[in-house]
Amino acid sequence: MKHEEKQEQMARTQAAKGGRTEETREAITMSRRNFLTLGLEALGALAALEIVGAGLLFLKPRSLEGQFGGVITAGPVSDFPPGSVTEFPEGRFFLIRTEDGGFLAVYRRCTHLGCSVSWEPTAGEFVCPCHGSHFDTVGDVQNPPAPRALDIFPVTIEDGTVKVDTSKPQTRDTFSPDQLVYA
Ligand code: FES
Repeated sequence: MKHEEKQEQMARTQAAKGGRTEETREAITMSRRNFLTLGLEALGALAALEIVGAGLLFLKPRSLEGQFGGVITAGPVSDFPPGSVTEFPEGRFFLIRTEDGGFLAVYRRCTHLGCSVSWEPTAGEFVCPCHGSHFDTVGDVQNPPAPRALDIFPVTIEDGTVKVDTSKPQTRDTFSPDQLVYA
């Protein structure tokens, strides 16, 4: 082989080597780019999932079972003797059982300006500490300024258990016997 031919072959080999190196660099750059793109896409998907999850949690109705605003299981009928008044602070009501066995749940919120009334067993009355309103054993006004009877909550008796739905306070002017619920 002549000297020029040898030089030409070496140049071709060098060029070929150089080409491969260029290709390799390009491949590495591409794979880095792909890796970054994939990483960013994965992060985006994760963030989207978190947003959707948080939204679903927000939309899911909160259960208020056992708390004010939900249904409170007061207990078995036999726990409440006739002529008793039992306070349920977590439900903000008093469960009254009249002498003839009827149940009535009265909201403790005074109908004047909303203070909490307390039950005074010796006087047999609900008394408001703010402006002195008094209510009798079924929540009727005995002493103003309260303008009407204490509000009531629906009572149900299921399988001998008394339940009170505190999500629906009902206003009334005075007590009437049809407000009582019997077992
Ligand atoms: S808030 Fe009860 S008497 Fe005024």
